[in-house]
Amino acid sequence: MQLGILKCTEEPLVAIVPKVAAKLKKIGHEIVIEKDAGKAAFFDDAAFEAEGVEVADRASVIAKSEILVTVSGADQDVLKAARPRTILIGKFNILNAPEMIETFRNSALRVFSLDKVPRSSIAQSMDVLSSLTSLAGYKAVIKAAEEFSGYFPMMTTAAGTIPPAKVLVLGAGVAGLQAIATAKRLGAVVEAFDVRSAVKEEVESLGAKFVEVTGADEDSQAGGYAVEQTAEYFKKQKELIHDRASKADIVISTANIPGKKAPLLIEKSTVASMQQGSVIIDMATASGGNCEVAEDGKMIHYNQVKIIGDSKLYNQLTKEASILFANNVFNFVTFILKDGDVSFEHEIALETYFGRPIDSVA
Ligand code: NAI
Repeated sequence: MQLGILKCTEEPLVAIVPKVAAKLKKIGHEIVIEKDAGKAAFFDDAAFEAEGVEVADRASVIAKSEILVTVSGADQDVLKAARPRTILIGKFNILNAPEMIETFRNSALRVFSLDKVPRSSIAQSMDVLSSLTSLAGYKAVIKAAEEFSGYFPMMTTAAGTIPPAKVLVLGAGVAGLQAIATAKRLGAVVEAFDVRSAVKEEVESLGAKFVEVTGADEDSQAGGYAVEQTAEYFKKQKELIHDRASKADIVISTANIPGKKAPLLIEKSTVASMQQGSVIIDMATASGGNCEVAEDGKMIHYNQVKIIGDSKLYNQLTKEASILFANNVFNFVTFILKDGDVSFEHEIALETYFGRPIDSVA
C-alpha cells in the first residue's frame, strides 16, 4: 500500500524512521514522507531517500497516501483533504480529548489511535505509551540530577562523606519503574509508592523500598491501570507522602488514572516542608498534575524547591523516542493489515479504532 509519513505538528518526533521505512518497503509498501518530517529527530530527508523513500510536500503526501502516519495531532488539513477510507494512525490522546472521537467518526477516514492499544501481552510491541513513558521516566531522573543542588551517590573522601540522595517516586507504573531503575543506577536511595499493591514486588526487585498505605481500591477489570480512591484513603496517603517527601531530596511523580484528573498527592504545605535545594519532577501535569504547585512545561521555584512540570519528557530524547514509536507503528500496521486492507478480527484493531462506523468503511 502507499504509506505517507506526515510531519508531526505537535511534537518533535517522527512516526517512521529510515530503518523502519526500509522494512515496510521490503514487505511491499511504497513510502512517501513530508519534507523535513524527521529533521527534529535527527533523521534528515537524505536518510529516508537512501532507503528509497520519496520526499514530497505535505499536500502531495496527504493526497496520494492510503495509510497516513503521524505521532500526534489530528490536523484539519489531513481530516479534510485525505482520500475517503484513508487509514490514519497516530497517538491522538483519545482519553483526555474525547471530543476527538466525534470529529473522527464524522470524517471520511479510518482512524486508529495508538494510545488505546490494550495492555495485553500480544499488544506490548505496539504500545507507544509504554515506549514513550519509559524514556520519560529515565529523563526525569537525569533532569532531577541536573537541577538538584546535591550529589546522587554516596561519596567518601578524605574531606568527609556525602550521603546518597534520597529519591521518592510516586506512581510505580512504566515511567515510575524506569525512574527507580535510573535513580538506583546513579546511586540514590529510592522509595516508591503506588496504589496498586501488585507493583510492590517489582519495586523491591529494583532495590527500592515500597512505601505502603493500606486500604486502596483496586479493580482487576481496569486493564492494569489504577482506579480513583476514597477520600479517607487520600487523607492517609497525603499524610504519608508529606512525611516521606519532607525527608527526600528528589520527588518524581508519575501518578495517573486514565481519562481522569491526576490525583493531587503533593500539596503546597508538603512542598514547603521539603528541604531547600530539593527538586520535584511532576510528570502528570498534562492531566492536572500530582503537585499543587506544578504547571505543565514550567519550572517553578517555591520556597527554594524547584518544581518542574513536564508530561512529555520523552520529547527530549527525540531520536530514541522516534525509533521506538516507529517500531510500534510497524508492529501495529503489520498486525492490522490482511490482504491489503484492515482486518477488524482482533480486539487490538477494534479497541484502537475511532474512525467512521466500521460497517460503513470496512
Ligand atoms: P499510568 O501512567 O496510568 O499511571 C502511572 C502509575 O500511577 C500507575 O502505576 C498507577 O497505579 C499509579 N497511580 C495512580 N493513582 C495513584 C495514586 N493516587 N497514588 C500513587 N500512585 C498512583 O500507568 P502506566 O504506567 O501506563 O501503566 C500501569 C500498568 O499497566 C503497568 O505498571 C503495567 O502493570 C501495566 N502495563 C501493561 C502492559 C502490557 O501488558 N502490554 C504495558 C504497559 C503497562
